[in-house]
Parts: sequence; structure tokens; C-alpha cells
Amino acid sequence: MSISIKTPDDIAKMRVAGRLGSEVLDYLTPHVKPGVTTRELDRLAHDYIVNVQQAIPAPLNYAPPGYTPYPASICTSVNHVVCHGIPGDKMLKDGDVINIDVTVIKHGFHGDTSRMFLVGKVPGHVQRLCQTTYEAMWHGIVRVRPGIRLGDIGHAIQVFAESAGYSVVREFCGHGIGRMFHEDPQVLHYGRPGTLEELRPGMVFTIEPMINAGRRDIREMPDGWTIVTKDRSLSAQWEHTVLVTDTGYEVLTVSAGTPAPPEFVSEYANAA
Ligand code: MF3
Ligand code: CO
Ligand code: CO
Repeated sequence: MSISIKTPDDIAKMRVAGRLGSEVLDYLTPHVKPGVTTRELDRLAHDYIVNVQQAIPAPLNYAPPGYTPYPASICTSVNHVVCHGIPGDKMLKDGDVINIDVTVIKHGFHGDTSRMFLVGKVPGHVQRLCQTTYEAMWHGIVRVRPGIRLGDIGHAIQVFAESAGYSVVREFCGHGIGRMFHEDPQVLHYGRPGTLEELRPGMVFTIEPMINAGRRDIREMPDGWTIVTKDRSLSAQWEHTVLVTDTGYEVLTVSAGTPAPPEFVSEYANAA
């Protein structure tokens, strides 16, 4: 396993790719409402990335070993879909939740980010799952600094999510990212403190926990991509691309519309 260390020039490019990825989500936000189809969201995102950003939608035709080429430009994962939902005829309705996952390539570097969107009026228990998943991601992010280990990140996320009564998906994880979409290391969202790779300045990876309201078990659909919860319980996910700096972290996937970090983030920074 070899984890690439980004140069200052690489990092400047990754800031641009990260901002563009996040700006796609900003652009889609007013369109995520009852009646829109996931295919329409994909078309909007594709045209914006290609024509406005003059960037490349990384998912389109992406084909890791053992997979058929991914047929769309974004992933749209609705309700009990955990991740990699393929845009199609599905129409969003009041009370749905959807994760939209965007990855763009600009000047050879990737920016990968996803958010949850609440469609219309969403029940309180569903809002709580989405909010807890957002906070779980941030419990991982705040730990990022040189000298800590990947197991510290996974542990923080797991403890927080499970304490809230939810389960953590094991089969999919965050990942190193740069010139390639998925690089070393794997960033598990569960684990034991003090284990796995030690972080060094210049590493860049995603943190993207998938948290289920029910059991953690998943199932792959016959399309070869879509992952759902086995018990059909709801699942939520948030994702940022994060740089390890000399003293801590920098979130690269930020734009005007990026949701503010949870309250505890500043408290954690002040305590550190
Ligand atoms: N964006 C996803 C991730 O966070 C990967 C999607 S692969 C695709 O790693 F082919 F489905 F787009
Ligand atoms: Co990712
Ligand atoms: Co992603």
C-alpha cells in the first residue's frame, strides 16, 4: 500500500476540484423537490459540470475491476439506498431523503463530495438520521492531523453513530483521492484507536460514512451498482474530501452553499 503525498501545486488543484464538486451540489439544491426525477438531476449536473465548469464527471463510465461501467454522472441514493444509486425514472416525493454524490475531475485532480437532501416535509426520525450522519462525518474530520491513525477516525465515527442507535456500513469506505478517483488508503468508518496507517501532511482522502437506521447489512441490486439496506431501513451518507495539513485538516470540498460544521467542531478546535 502506498499513499501519495500531494505537493503544494497538487493541493492547489485539489482545492479547485473540491470547490467545483461542492458547487455542483449548490447548483442542484433548488431542483431537489417533489416531482423531479433523479435522471433530471443527473442531466442538470452533467451539463453544469461539462459546459459551465469545463470539468469531467468522474462517475460516468467509471469501471473498477468487476464492475460494469457506471452509466451516469452522479449517484442518487434515495431512502433505503445506501450508495451508488443510478439516476433514472424515479420521481422524488414529499418525505423522501436523497444523497447526491458528485465527483468532478479538473486539471487532472478529483473532488468528491455528497450531501443529504430532505424532500418536502420529512418525519423527525428521518431528519435525526441525516443530522446524526452529518455529525458522524465531522467527528471523523476533526480528528484529522499528522500523527493520528486511520483507526482513530473510524473509531470516532463508529462510537458516535452506534451511541445514537444506528449502524455503520462496513463494505464501503472513504478513500485516498487525487489524480485517481480511488487511491490508497481505505478509510474505514469503524475501527479501533491507534490502529492502521499514521497520517502525514499532504495526504488527501475522503470521509463518507454510510449510516443505517436499522441493521448494517447491505445487498447489491441486479444492476450491479445500487446498494440497499438488507432490512430496507433508511440509510444516510455525507462526504467531504479532506487534506492533512501540518497542524490539522483542511476540508477541500467547500463552496458558498456548504452546510456549516456542527457546533462541536469549534469546541473541539478550541480544546485541541
Ligand atoms: N463518489 C463515490 C465515492 O464517494 C463513488 C461512486 S463510483 C460510481 O467514492 F461509479 F458509482 F460513481
Ligand atoms: Co468518495
Ligand atoms: Co463520493
